[in-house]
Amino acid sequence: MILVADKTILYTGAAGGLGMETTLNFLRAGAKVVAVDNNPAKIADLSGKVEQEGLQGLTIRAIDLSDLATLRRRLEEVSAETGGFDIVINNAAIYPSKPFEEYSIEEMQAVQRVNVDAGIVCVQVALPHMRKEGWGRIVNIASVTAYGGWANLSPYVQSKGALIGLTRAWAREFGAYGITVNAISPGAFPTDAEKIHPDPEGYTRFVLDHQAVKRRGAASDISNALMFLASDAAGFITGQTLNVDGGWVMH
Ligand SMILES: NC(=O)c1ccc[n+]([C@@H]2O[C@H](COP(=O)([O-])OP(=O)(O)OC[C@H]3O[C@@H](n4cnc5c(N)ncnc54)[C@H](O)[C@@H]3O)[C@@H](O)[C@H]2O)c1
Repeated sequence: MILVADKTILYTGAAGGLGMETTLNFLRAGAKVVAVDNNPAKIADLSGKVEQEGLQGLTIRAIDLSDLATLRRRLEEVSAETGGFDIVINNAAIYPSKPFEEYSIEEMQAVQRVNVDAGIVCVQVALPHMRKEGWGRIVNIASVTAYGGWANLSPYVQSKGALIGLTRAWAREFGAYGITVNAISPGAFPTDAEKIHPDPEGYTRFVLDHQAVKRRGAASDISNALMFLASDAAGFITGQTLNVDGGWVMH
């Protein structure tokens, strides 16, 4: 039995394709989730599902993660209201796609702001409470693209590499306080993130060719891994990047 009940989870991009399922599962398990997302349609979908199931414990904050000062202020407020964050999941991401030479430096930086810098703010806000409790979990969501040299995704791949690096740096620095830090590196999952590919059927063939497991990944595959890493059961695992990708990447 994996226990996350009574924990408060700060979850960015919680209303997205992979975030939604995990948010619902955390709520079903009795955790409190502070969902930060700025997509009104996805937020409405999440609220609807939570209401339909009669689940308790969801707080939604529609914050644009690229506004780091506002993010910090609003998170400090909600941290004070909820008593602090025990678990941080840095999951939100943007994923523009075009040849490297067409990106301006500002566009490159804008991707780092959402995919990496917002996560840094989340961890900085959560850390004092985690240290006080002597317990914390941080999970950064990386990507298979960080390993495979994918074309046209330079700022995205850059951001995922940064998250893997921060996972190790934070794991080393926070371990003494009972805080573990891990990354999950999803393979290819059929969410909005995949709609950037012009040929969906060809892309599915490409994905299945690369995976050892010959089925498409589901949000529940990510949810299972996340719930484990966020729990007490994973207390001796830190600084790791767990590939949840049907055996695409093997180390
Ligand atoms: N789906 C895949 O195949 C896949 C593969 C590898 C990695 N990932 C990673 O998994 C994570 C979740 O991806 P997903 O597939 O659920 O994508 P998604 O686009 O469905 O979810 C991302 C969520 O982040 C939110 N978000 C984006 N920018 C934001 C901002 N500025 N402020 C607030 N919220 C913002 C979006 O509204 C969305 O709900 C991402 O980190 C992604 O890079 C996904």
